[in-house]
Amino acid sequence: ALGAAIRDCEGCGLCKSRHQVVVGEGVDSPAIMVIGEAPGEQEDRQGLPFVGRSGMLLDNMLATIGASRHTNVYVANAIKCRPPGNRNPRPEESAACHPFLMRQIALVNPRTILVLGRVAAQAVLSTDSSLQALRGRPLSFDAAGGQIPMVVSYHPAYLLRRPTEKAAAWEDLQRLRAIAAIEA
Ligand code: URA
Repeated sequence: ALGAAIRDCEGCGLCKSRHQVVVGEGVDSPAIMVIGEAPGEQEDRQGLPFVGRSGMLLDNMLATIGASRHTNVYVANAIKCRPPGNRNPRPEESAACHPFLMRQIALVNPRTILVLGRVAAQAVLSTDSSLQALRGRPLSFDAAGGQIPMVVSYHPAYLLRRPTEKAAAWEDLQRLRAIAAIEA
């Protein structure tokens, strides 16, 4: 029902330019719920999250810690429709999607959350803190059933532009693997 509500949503202007709404993909009650920013061109075409170049890098990174959307991961975005030209989502667009994201986290019921990039981190945590302030800190998400441990890291699109930051992202993933108790 939540998926249908998201797919039918006309709560902001992005519904006019989208081809497909991207709800999410993966398993229920996963070890990790990955939350990205918003669909890009490929995702908007296919209706699936992280299927372009960033998605390939994300899948490869997850594989290094024994994680995949086919076995123990659920992948979603903070914003469910593509902003034209991949511009940053506007505050009113993030606000329109926020209740969906909160409900989705509750229903997916993840053991841990991995948030990718500043835009997603600010949307999930309802904060205007910088990525530098949030990365590398023990964080948690307040869910109805208790606190869900959360790791904020770099967005894969940023890592494609700045490969030297991959070492720092790798450290974030190791921390996540430990918290999510995934056997390597
Ligand atoms: N970038 C994102 O943040 N999400 C996607 O689904 C694809 C690229």
